[in-house]
Amino acid sequence: MTNIILLGPPGAGKGTQARKLVDEKGMIQLSTGDMLREAKASGSEMGKRVAAVMERGELVTDEIVIGLIEEKLTSGAASGGFIFDGFPRTLAQADALRELLDRVGLSLDAVVEMRVDDEALVSRITGRYTCGDCGEGYHETAKPTAKEGVCDVCGSTNLKRRADDNEETLRQRLMEYYKNTSPLIGYYYAKDQLRSIDGLAEIDTVAASIAEIVG
Ligand code: AP5
Repeated sequence: MTNIILLGPPGAGKGTQARKLVDEKGMIQLSTGDMLREAKASGSEMGKRVAAVMERGELVTDEIVIGLIEEKLTSGAASGGFIFDGFPRTLAQADALRELLDRVGLSLDAVVEMRVDDEALVSRITGRYTCGDCGEGYHETAKPTAKEGVCDVCGSTNLKRRADDNEETLRQRLMEYYKNTSPLIGYYYAKDQLRSIDGLAEIDTVAASIAEIVG
């Protein structure tokens, strides 16, 4: 069982690679972004509170996201291991994760830093769309659906774009990444858990680099 963090800016490919690990290695994806979007869609009080924050591209409070992760980690074991996707995003979240893993008797095996450059992120984010039914992610040029407007995986025509996937919000999301999340690179380097890979390579090449780390 291997537990890893996928660390990288918006559009680095964390969600894309997490889904491959779920399909190919039976790991469990814990994406705080997906959990928050689900809360928003459900119309819960918390979902209403975070909706505007997310649309501005700012970070939701540590308290909310730590609570979401705690709920998932304590609700059952994952034989294939956990993939933390989009969490932690602050030093306080990293400390909370360490404490949570200790509490449930798990360890963190590696932190995969997906290195990309800001130029590539703009086209990745503005070209992204997702199947609203099964969650499969696509890109206009890098990963289009085989048949236009139809999901390759489940055949749905409910293909969606995210409200925060525009150039202006991306700038704010990048700012949050550099200000709050990039310090985690040094944090995990100092713990000898950081493994950096080229996130600009093709999707399958990136997957192969991650597979070498996960084993
Ligand atoms: P979240 O949903 O986590 O978004 P993000 O971190 O901005 O990351 P993305 O989902 O945008 O990108 P990704 O790296 O998963 O890229 P993907 O694989 O889709 O967070 C959203 C918001 O929620 C935050 O802004 C914040 O408000 C809140 N939030 C979430 N977690 C939080 C936390 N812990 N604390 C506080 N607030 C939190 O790929 C992008 C596109 O590129 C796709 O179209 C894909 O097909 C394509 N692509 C992927 N890989 C490649 C490749 N190798 N080559 C070419 N194209 C590729």
